[in-house]
Amino acid sequence: MRAIICNKFGTFEELKFSTLPDPIPGPGQVVIRNTAIGVNYPDGLLVQGLYQCKPTFPFVPGIESVGEVIALGEGVDSCRKGDKVAAVLQIGQDAGSYAEQVVTSSKQLIHLGAKVNDADGCALICAYSTAHHALKQRARLQPGETLAVLGASGATGLAAVEIGKVMGAQVLAFASTPEKLALAKDHGADQAVSYLEHDLCESLKKLTSGQGVDVVFDPVGGDSFDACSRSMAWNGRLLVIGFASGRIPKFPTNLALVKGFSVVGVFWGSFVRQQPHIYRENMAELLGWYRTGKVRPHIAATMPLSDAPKALAQVFGRKSMGKIILDPR
Ligand SMILES: NC(=O)c1ccc[n+]([C@@H]2O[C@H](COP(=O)([O-])OP(=O)(O)OC[C@H]3O[C@@H](n4cnc5c(N)ncnc54)[C@H](OP(=O)(O)O)[C@@H]3O)[C@@H](O)[C@H]2O)c1
Repeated sequence: MRAIICNKFGTFEELKFSTLPDPIPGPGQVVIRNTAIGVNYPDGLLVQGLYQCKPTFPFVPGIESVGEVIALGEGVDSCRKGDKVAAVLQIGQDAGSYAEQVVTSSKQLIHLGAKVNDADGCALICAYSTAHHALKQRARLQPGETLAVLGASGATGLAAVEIGKVMGAQVLAFASTPEKLALAKDHGADQAVSYLEHDLCESLKKLTSGQGVDVVFDPVGGDSFDACSRSMAWNGRLLVIGFASGRIPKFPTNLALVKGFSVVGVFWGSFVRQQPHIYRENMAELLGWYRTGKVRPHIAATMPLSDAPKALAQVFGRKSMGKIILDPR
C-alpha cells in the first residue's frame, strides 16, 4: 500500500510518499481501507518533533481515518467486512492513518452507517469530538451562558461554534479575517469579531456588558489566552485546547483567585483512552446531531494522499478553514 512516511523530524516537504506492505490484522484487530483521512494540527506537530509524544522512526503520521473494513483478525465479532467505520489511531501504538490502509483494534471503531459522508465522518472524530468533550464534560456549558471561541473558523473552533449553539449558549466568535468571520457566522455564531482589528479584552467586556465571559474555548494560546484570562466571569471556565499561535502562555494564578474562574485542560486523545465509554456516548450524540442537521462540518478541501505536505502547510500557514481531508483512492 502507499503511505506517507516520516523518517526524521523536519519540514513537511521531507515527508516521503512511499510503499509499505499491506497490514495484516492480529487477534482482535481489523484492517480498514481508507476512504477519507483527516488532517489535524497535531499531525503537523508530530512530524516536526513538536508533539508531546515522539514515535520511533520510520512512522506513518495521522490519527483519524474513515473507511471500509476489509479484513478481520481472530475473535472479531463486533463488525463485518464491508462496514463503514471511523477509527482513532493511537500515536506510538498504531501505525498512522496517512496510508491506503490501517490496522487497529476492533473495540474502538465507531460505526458510521451509509448516510454519513466520509469526509464529514472524519471531521466529527477529532475536531468535533474535541469541541464536544471540552464543552460538555470539561466546561459543563449551560444554556444561556456566553461562550467565546477563538480561532473560530479552524477545525476545532468551528466545531465549538456549532456545538455551543446546539447546547444553547450565546456564541461569540473570534477570528482573523472577514472570510473566517463570515464562516463562523454562517455556522451559527451570534457575534463575530476580528481579534486582529479589535482588542480582544475590550471586545469581550463590551459583548458581555462588563460581566466577563462564562466559557472560553481557546485553541490559539499566546496573547489571546492572556487577554481572555483578564476577561472571565465569576465561575467562568477557560478551556486550554491548544497553542496554534506558537506560544504556550504562562498564567498568573492570582487572576483565577481574584476573578473566581477555572483554567481547565482538555486532552481529547487521553479522554478517548481513559474514558472510552463516555467517548462512545459522545460520538452517538454527535452523530445524532449530524443526522438531524444540527452540526454540519465545513470541508475546506479534499486532496490526494500524496499532497499531505501541502495540506499540513495550509493548516500551519493559517490558510485553512474547517477541515482538510486526504483521499487515498
Ligand atoms: N486539546 C486537544 O485535545 C486538541 C485536539 C485537537 C487540536 N488541538 C490543538 O488545538 C490547536 C488548533 O487545532 P485546530 O485543529 O483547530 O487547528 P486549525 O484548524 O489550524 O485552527 C487553528 C486556528 O488558530 C488560529 N491561529 C492563530 N494564530 C495562528 C498561527 N500562528 N498559525 C496557525 N493558526 C493560528 C487560526 O485562526 P485565525 O487566523 O482566525 O486566528 C486557525 O484557524 C492546535 O494547537 C492543536 O494541536 C488540541
